[in-house]
Amino acid sequence: FLYITMVLLTNDIIVTPTEAVDLNKFKQCNDQSFCRVNRNIEDDPSRIHYKIVPSSLHIDTEGRLQADLIEEGLADKEGHSDREHPLSLEIRALEDDTIRMTITEKVSVTKNKRYQVNDVLLPNIEYAPIKTLHMSSDNDATFEFGRHSYARIQYRPFKLDVFVDDILAISANERSFFKFERTLTHPAPDTKWPEMFRDHPDSRPRGPMSVAMDISFIGTSHVYGIPEHTTSLALRSTRGNKINDNPYRLYNLDVFEYELDKTTALYGAVPLMLSHDANKTVGVFWLNSAETFIDVSDGINSKYTHWISETGVMDVFFLTGPTPLKVFSQYAALTGTTALPQLFSLGYHQCRWNYVSQQDVEEVDSGFDDNSIPYDVMWLDIEHTNEKRYFTWDKANFGSPKDMLAKIEAKGRKMVSIVDPHIMREPSYYIYNEAKSNKYFVNNNKGEEYVGYCWPGDSSYIDFTNPQARDWWASQFAYNKYQGSTPILYTWNDMNEPSVFNGPEVSMNKDALHYGNAEHREVHNLYGFYQHMATAKGLVDRNTDKNDRPFVLSRSFFAGTQRFGPIWTGDNAAKWSHLKAAQPMLLSLGLTGITFSGADVGGFFGNPDGELLARWYQAGSFQPFFRGHSHHDTKRREPWLFGDPYLGIIKAAILRRYTYLPLWYTLFYQNTLTGAPTMRPLWVEFPSDPSLFAVDNEFMVGNSLLVVPVVEQGAKTTRVMLPGGDTQTWYDIDTLKRYFACHMEVATPLDKIPVYQRGGTIVPKKERVRPSTKHMVDDPYTLVVALSATQQARGELYIDDGHSFDYQKGQYLYRSFVYNHGKIQSSSMDNSAVYKPASTVERIVVMGVDKRPSSVTREGHNLPFEYDRTMLKLTIDKLYIPISSNWLIEVE
Ligand code: NOJ
Repeated sequence: FLYITMVLLTNDIIVTPTEAVDLNKFKQCNDQSFCRVNRNIEDDPSRIHYKIVPSSLHIDTEGRLQADLIEEGLADKEGHSDREHPLSLEIRALEDDTIRMTITEKVSVTKNKRYQVNDVLLPNIEYAPIKTLHMSSDNDATFEFGRHSYARIQYRPFKLDVFVDDILAISANERSFFKFERTLTHPAPDTKWPEMFRDHPDSRPRGPMSVAMDISFIGTSHVYGIPEHTTSLALRSTRGNKINDNPYRLYNLDVFEYELDKTTALYGAVPLMLSHDANKTVGVFWLNSAETFIDVSDGINSKYTHWISETGVMDVFFLTGPTPLKVFSQYAALTGTTALPQLFSLGYHQCRWNYVSQQDVEEVDSGFDDNSIPYDVMWLDIEHTNEKRYFTWDKANFGSPKDMLAKIEAKGRKMVSIVDPHIMREPSYYIYNEAKSNKYFVNNNKGEEYVGYCWPGDSSYIDFTNPQARDWWASQFAYNKYQGSTPILYTWNDMNEPSVFNGPEVSMNKDALHYGNAEHREVHNLYGFYQHMATAKGLVDRNTDKNDRPFVLSRSFFAGTQRFGPIWTGDNAAKWSHLKAAQPMLLSLGLTGITFSGADVGGFFGNPDGELLARWYQAGSFQPFFRGHSHHDTKRREPWLFGDPYLGIIKAAILRRYTYLPLWYTLFYQNTLTGAPTMRPLWVEFPSDPSLFAVDNEFMVGNSLLVVPVVEQGAKTTRVMLPGGDTQTWYDIDTLKRYFACHMEVATPLDKIPVYQRGGTIVPKKERVRPSTKHMVDDPYTLVVALSATQQARGELYIDDGHSFDYQKGQYLYRSFVYNHGKIQSSSMDNSAVYKPASTVERIVVMGVDKRPSSVTREGHNLPFEYDRTMLKLTIDKLYIPISSNWLIEVE
């Protein structure tokens, strides 16, 4: 059913068959009363305004600001009808310049408690008590928080203004779109709650419960984030836009053959929006796991947004930056940073639906060696199981999985097998039985096991929101439970939106019931998050020493997913347009914490020709998660099947990825300290240049490499923009030629992807060719120094054993390299780091040395060197200085 598009007749509109997604299968704002009602109030002059009851406003003993919110027109004291039950407003300040505003029912007047998201926020968030409230007039009060921010609360109508460095940055409820739908106990409940979508009734037994508010970002014209969508990095307006008058939708869905440039929902959701202008960067995190729509439009010297969630409490964080890096760390303080990946997972991954047998696996594996192409991980899709019973093997084709795994392990490589959340309903299947007897499945609205159709046929769905079910799930990864698994087998969690082929919008009915009587509508966007969490735990717990970092790829995600593992952008297509779309999609994910992400290289659906595949490998090799994957209906596409010149180009791209692994690993470590994305929009690095704010065809890797993927078929040349002021230098990483900031047209024959190292940076590399990362551990480093116009540069290098948690006990190294007017110095950035690797610095290459040095010395001894006058390149080779030692080299 999934793979068929049909001619449909709806309301006299003829939808003609296309090769793409059948959008009618998916809801839009207008199809749901909660969204319609809220969106309509924008044009409703008689909409209800809310006000703060001034006498209720106070700071409690823990430094929390509290007040009652009631509808305008009601008396300033609590009355007796449901309508007059006030809402409670609470504002708390966090340690690092963030405030949290929570609005919920003071006294619950509905039957069911509103859902409050658990487990997304870190448990140890630090609050800073709000000390004083200044009543500035009879209609507002201000309070200070953080180092440079204050907020003003206006009572009537209720509004919250957040100021950064005395400049108004964010205004909440400025337009009075605040709405808090309550299903009241009297008058008698409206009987018109059930809602139909296509053939799917939603009983909505709890009635309307939406929460919504407008939030304006002042002084800016660019907002970003709220993945996952296929739109541009800088978010387009969704109002007054005839082509696409649909708000951005956050509702995790399995969308078959998704279309580009749409605000429609995809597999994951992070309700975090950033805004940036030349003076400041700020963010808003709307912590709600129900279906959410977000309108974006242009206001007067501002960006207007309108956030509408179907249910839950209103829990909003205002992150006041004021720099991009500050916002990343403020958000990381809320939801955490990326789990430090094992080094292998930053190498290249080879996947296909499906590698069909052990022999197939062995042949593909050998293919890499025969062609001297490194790779680290071989993946097995659903067909490796016994008829889609996860945690089992297809006996005919994978009869001895341990032998297969041993052979892969002998090559220093790993494997990944898929484990989906839908469980075949079959009494002889142990997973089904155990889950059933423990009541670990999601129930339908009648309280019986929910049944949906997925790969195995009729399936039930593990309720990952239940902590006991998560522990049970985690225990399934134990080696004695998951027969045939070994320590080099890691995991892929797919279809966890969750995908239900015969469900509404190919997902679960919203009135299905979860742990604690939560409705599916309340937890929908958390389903995959919780599966990811449980699997990651299982992969740690399966080893007695619990000392192997987990690796699990998930398709669905939510805020905080970065703590568990990477995600990918799902079922893209082998089209140039999809290659191009990968950049803004991955950049948006990185801005919202999920920097370990990638797109299927080559495109999942369809057959890329050699040119597209080669270009995709070139781009993918500079993106955080680097995996080739394809649908079973496509032709095989292992690199060597394409012949020259494609094989050589693909090989070069993968090899180059391996040379830059020290940089990637360092960036991921730095993310654990700062939350900064590894793959970054240009504006993050050049925040004061407005011409960069919407650029998404180029990106940065860390602060050092600028990548310009070639995404046009037959592009003989590609437009490159090298940002920065007049004196900013850039070095082509192929030719080492120096450029100053400029716009230029660069020749891009098929073997060329324009990549530049930024002047002022030092990038660590490993340049030996190896079959996998495991073989590179002791390999020596090359330091590539790209001099700024003032003959300076700096960089860092992080090293640990690449796989265990020992780094948390000091078994790591964090080195700094500084070049300053001819002096190159290496020192430790962290004295608690004690790791002593065997590797050395073998070579230093300095780019941008304007004249031949007369000598290069270390501790008074002359070192041999080479100088290339045309390339302005100095090479100091065969150094072999232990990477852990401090040294100084002088170039004169
Ligand atoms: C859907 C996933 O997105 C895709 O990557 C996978 O190959 C298929 N499911 C089969 O498991």
